[in-house]
Amino acid sequence: MSGIRLDGVTVRLGDADVLRDVAVDLDARTVSVIGENGSGKSTFARLLGGLTPATAGRIEVLGLDPARQSAELRRRVAVVFSNPDAQIVLPTVAEDVAFSLRAEKPTRAEAAERVAGALARFGLTDLAERSSHDLSGGQKQLLALCGAFIRHPELVIADEPTAFLDARNARRVADHLFAEEHGHRLVLVTHDLALAERCDVAVLFADGRVAGIGTPADIVAEYEASIRW
Ligand SMILES: Nc1ncnc2c1ncn2[C@@H]1O[C@H](COP(=O)(O)OP(=O)(O)O)[C@@H](O)[C@H]1O
Ligand SMILES: [Mg+2]
Repeated sequence: MSGIRLDGVTVRLGDADVLRDVAVDLDARTVSVIGENGSGKSTFARLLGGLTPATAGRIEVLGLDPARQSAELRRRVAVVFSNPDAQIVLPTVAEDVAFSLRAEKPTRAEAAERVAGALARFGLTDLAERSSHDLSGGQKQLLALCGAFIRHPELVIADEPTAFLDARNARRVADHLFAEEHGHRLVLVTHDLALAERCDVAVLFADGRVAGIGTPADIVAEYEASIRW
């Protein structure tokens, strides 16, 4: 299974080079992305998800070129963000989860069965008919994950998915992201360094460049040592 390969990638937004000469070759199942605010982590996540184009360089995600094979990339990759409100599309919990299946055009019975299974896995069964916008922040983020995982993505890209959650919900969300039974790969942008250390490999961004790649314990130590108070 091919992973994530970038070579000489630059992303220019406005008149700033937000990512500069990024080269990575990542085949680990779980990869954390850490670094200061503004270091380019979200841009990197969006680039992998096909949401931001590269200005220069080569990119391969699951063997695909995100710019030229964006439809297939969207089928195989799910992206989750911090703000659960921005990820809710339909009025009820069950409808919102079912909406994630629209591209697969399942029969009504297949859709109902998959939605029920996914809701159960994410502890949302009792909330199925509730208004999605009235959920708590933690429930909304579980709903967003439920919608991501129901499509059986090969890669889940999560950009600070636990940023607004309390400890208990953050743990729940993290446990789903790391769960091996879904058979997915994970790219996790996070400021939670303990969570970053749960990954197989960590990437440190600084000022739009990759400042380090390696075992999470080493990279977290490198990051902490680089912080000037
Ligand atoms: N659309 C944009 N136009 C210009 N600059 C941007 C744009 N989006 C992000 N940036 C800048 O790019 C840098 C990296 O942003 P981002 O990837 O969001 O960093 P991080 O997620 O690490 O905080 C920041 O300095 C940010 O201000
Ligand atoms: Mg960010």
